[in-house]
Amino acid sequence: MKQGGSTDAKRRAGESAAETVEDGMVVGLGTGSTAAHAIRALGRAVDAGLDVRGIPTSFQSRQLAREEGIPLTSLEEATPDVAIDGADQFADGDLVKGGGAAHAREKVVDAAADRFLAVVDPTKEADVLDYPVPVEVLPDARTTVAERLRALGGTPALRAAERKDGPVVTDNGNLVLDCDFGAIPDPGGLGRDVASIPGVVEHGLFVGLVDEVHLGTDDGVDVFEP
Ligand code: 5RP
Repeated sequence: MKQGGSTDAKRRAGESAAETVEDGMVVGLGTGSTAAHAIRALGRAVDAGLDVRGIPTSFQSRQLAREEGIPLTSLEEATPDVAIDGADQFADGDLVKGGGAAHAREKVVDAAADRFLAVVDPTKEADVLDYPVPVEVLPDARTTVAERLRALGGTPALRAAERKDGPVVTDNGNLVLDCDFGAIPDPGGLGRDVASIPGVVEHGLFVGLVDEVHLGTDDGVDVFEP
């Protein structure tokens, strides 16, 4: 399911967002290869004396933050001043996320942050969202949710694990249906429809959440408000 641009473009985006973090801040730590560049940059800043605490969005971002020496906290103890997270596709500041099956926790942390910075590269940009939407579902609800997604015009496919027989199991113990809706002219409306299906834990449409986009390219970074 993953796509993406050059490592340099991703690194520039992640490092640009990490540079906005100030002393004393609590930072939501996104998941994926672009967010990982931001986490590594924050780790270097912590080594150099920056005082920050991170709130991870996944097992993977927690592990990386630990390796990088970033002190961790939780949403029970702190509100993120800023969250830095990647995306699988963006259009007008709306995102499809969940390529790493971490979108449920990502949405909670990204939405809780005072500012949410999306770190992306040009391969993620679209005029209209059309990337398959990851839908995290309770395992027992897999077939009933799939039926309802088909009724909404989607084509759901259970995400298969790599190097393990069977499906991807999320950090929350659930399954993921990647649902192809074709072009999504009304992400807000579709998001509400999908969220209303019993058994859906969270979907990967992030609508109206982004405060700033850091778009890394092969020769620089564009920073803009959507
Ligand atoms: C994980 C995500 C990621 O942020 C998204 O898949 C982008 O990943 P990458 O930066 O590796 O292209 O949503 O659930």
